[in-house]
Amino acid sequence: MLTTALFKNEKIFFSDRGKGRPVVLLHGFLGSHKIWKLTIENLSSSYRVIAIDLPGHGQTASIGYAHSMDLMAKSVKAVMDFLKLKKYVIIGHSMGGYAGLAFADLFPDHIKGLCLYHSSAYADSEEKKKERLRAIRLIKTSKNIYTKSTVKNLFATKNLKYLKDEIAFALSIARQTQKQGIIAALLGMRDRQSRDLILGLVEYPIMLVIGEQDNILPYEVLLEQSQIIKNKQILYLEHDGHLGFLESPKVSHKELRKFLRKCFQNT
Ligand code: MLT
Repeated sequence: MLTTALFKNEKIFFSDRGKGRPVVLLHGFLGSHKIWKLTIENLSSSYRVIAIDLPGHGQTASIGYAHSMDLMAKSVKAVMDFLKLKKYVIIGHSMGGYAGLAFADLFPDHIKGLCLYHSSAYADSEEKKKERLRAIRLIKTSKNIYTKSTVKNLFATKNLKYLKDEIAFALSIARQTQKQGIIAALLGMRDRQSRDLILGLVEYPIMLVIGEQDNILPYEVLLEQSQIIKNKQILYLEHDGHLGFLESPKVSHKELRKFLRKCFQNT
């Protein structure tokens, strides 16, 4: 059963499992809280795990035409305020990481640690911005084709033949995303600002998960960003693409637990 918190008169849906220090999971584009199924199961034996359906995804409705990363971050804050939680670790997958960085920028006092799970602190390149607009045109005519090819692209090409169940699982979640939510997220990602300065400024731990076979965010670019982080942990997944917590759940969860222990030590 999901709980809701109000943000701009819309319900933000989230799951809340486990007891202990709070950990927030933010899904990526075409995801929902459900994509974290295995991660929630694993972490909630030791932590309170709150997994949010970001605006326009899962059961949360769209809020306007474009969902900026700041708007997404503010919707997360509405949930955390509703729960009266003050300090937490945010784990953001890809677009969820962009929203997590916006959160870190807007509400720095609430963060104990930030994990950018296959995510980047850089803005879109000019080429990527054009690609977002091409995607919007395609969604308007052929949403199913777009969704299927986008989800497949999240997995390492060489994993496609082994991970049939995981692909079907991710696709079933992606298919629930409304057209308006997809377009709003694409516009929000296109217009997001670079937030790499934050990586170099903050004292709390930052974890980067990087897939060498990632078709969306090239590993070289993510490794470059890692250089300025003061207190860092890197999980480098040689055989995985953009969905490490489904492609290699065991090692992902082991490393996330290590990261969480570091974030919450001395508290
Ligand atoms: C995601 O997985 O959230 C998106 O692929 C990120 C992006 O398109 O930049």
